[in-house]
Amino acid sequence: MSPQDFEFISTLIKSRSGLVLTPDKSYLLESRLMPVARKHGLKGLDELISTMRARKDEALIVEVTEAMTTNESFFFRDIKPFDLLRDEVLPPILEKRAAKKHLRIWCAAASSGQEPYSIAIVLKELGAKVAGWNIDITGTDISRDILKKAQAGQYSQFEVQRGMPITLLLKYFEKKEETWQIKEDIRKMVQYKYWNLLDDLKGLGGYDIVFCRNVLIYFDAETKGRVLESISKLMPEDGMLFLGGAETVLGVTDRFKPVPGQRGVYSRA
Ligand SMILES: C[S@@+](CC[C@H](N)C(=O)[O-])C[C@H]1O[C@@H](n2cnc3c(N)ncnc32)[C@H](O)[C@@H]1O
Repeated sequence: MSPQDFEFISTLIKSRSGLVLTPDKSYLLESRLMPVARKHGLKGLDELISTMRARKDEALIVEVTEAMTTNESFFFRDIKPFDLLRDEVLPPILEKRAAKKHLRIWCAAASSGQEPYSIAIVLKELGAKVAGWNIDITGTDISRDILKKAQAGQYSQFEVQRGMPITLLLKYFEKKEETWQIKEDIRKMVQYKYWNLLDDLKGLGGYDIVFCRNVLIYFDAETKGRVLESISKLMPEDGMLFLGGAETVLGVTDRFKPVPGQRGVYSRA
């Protein structure tokens, strides 16, 4: 690929999704975009890029952007954040909201749904402590395809084996031939919506707890700071943010600060 084509496609992808593609990652273009090129009857990446340069085909741009997203996710990823959610983060928030019994949680990069469903299961397991509560869990993502999978809540044996404890699997899933279907009461606890983190987030409403895990790693420092600032504006003073293990607010934004002793958890600054 010519340097000009690389510049064109990486600039387009960054402006659409925030994903930064450095030349050493150009192999990703090959593996992710060849299927898109083939689907459109184009011989390869060069032809795909020249087609995109020749006409502004919005549907093709969206397809290319989505194809470049990394949707890797699994249930109770890194486990510790979900223990911290149950043991440290939820108790004081539930206490403060006991009068209204209303809690809003947002998974800002929900991917195929494992993260929001893990949160839903944590809440369900709290039993009487949240009985009668109105709990909204919203999962958003930039990939419409992956949101369809999240909505369906149907996972392969391999996917459930990645993180879902057997007791919870048997309690909250039903075996359907070769797949595991998340039960309706858990599925209904999560609402999915398309939302690009680079867009105005105001329309999403307010959230007490935000999971924004393993997506900021793909952005540059300026974009990370901008997204975190927009997220902070959706959260009350006592709102709590969860980031992925390789992510931090330090040196990126002063809107959040790490919670001592709770790795990956941040409070409003
Ligand atoms: C690696 S997955 C992380 C999933 C989950 N949070 C976890 O930690 O397991 C990253 C997700 O971020 C989504 N994503 C990437 N850029 C985005 C953007 N600009 N706005 C919203 N979602 C985005 C991708 O589509 C992908 O599903």
